[in-house]
Amino acid sequence: MITIKSEKEIELMKESAEALKAALRAIEKEIRPGVTTMHLNKVAEAAIRAHGAIPAFIGEKCPYYGGKDYKWAICTSVNDEIIHGIPSDYVLKEGDLVCVDLGTYKNGWASDAGRTYGVGKISAESQKLINVAKAAFFAAVDQAVVGNRIGDISNAVETYVKKNGFTLLREYEGHGIGRKMHEDPGVPNIGRKGTGPRLQKGMALAIEPMVCAGKPDVYVKDDMWTVATEDGKMTSYYENTIVITDNEPLILTLD
Ligand code: MF3
Ligand code: CO
Repeated sequence: MITIKSEKEIELMKESAEALKAALRAIEKEIRPGVTTMHLNKVAEAAIRAHGAIPAFIGEKCPYYGGKDYKWAICTSVNDEIIHGIPSDYVLKEGDLVCVDLGTYKNGWASDAGRTYGVGKISAESQKLINVAKAAFFAAVDQAVVGNRIGDISNAVETYVKKNGFTLLREYEGHGIGRKMHEDPGVPNIGRKGTGPRLQKGMALAIEPMVCAGKPDVYVKDDMWTVATEDGKMTSYYENTIVITDNEPLILTLD
């Protein structure tokens, strides 16, 4: 069921997103060679809690049989890892790409966002991966208007990423968001114009292009969470929570 948010509820989602934005700012300051992904997790969790919010990912159920509930505030996926990487004692090194994904709950309302950061000096292709995932999100935002359909968002992402010579994960998608982090509808990164649910004022969506430099075939690592590319090539990811309005969409988690 797709839920429509009132003005008042959107204000509450904005407050939740403020905590997320503070965490993004805190993470960004710490990105450099020599820092562990667990350190990023600690910094993010502290910032979220300092803003009266709680990390939304803690307690998420593992989608794979035998997996344990998620215990961390953020996901950190390095290089060929694209989503759901677990923070660890891995030390970031020059040239790495780290995809950071985080969510918050405040006063019962969720927000969700993700960024990919380059560590130190990165290759031209890595920089392009970062730019393309972000620009694909903004191409999607241009379509996120009343009267359009989810397929228009999906098609905008797909068209932009393909045009730039990269590929997209098929098995994972964006989603509705509100009182829960994952709500209807699904927001695929691949799709046909004019298909899927119609966009209405007050719908909140997490749009999240997941971009691969090589083939989009992925596997789940033994930790039952981390999703990585089969060919070992680099990936990037970019996500924000948006709300459909009568005019341009609001982007709640834009730092
Ligand atoms: N943020 C992810 C999404 O965009 C969900 C991560 S769930 C976690 O849908 F359990 F891995 F944290
Ligand atoms: Co999401």
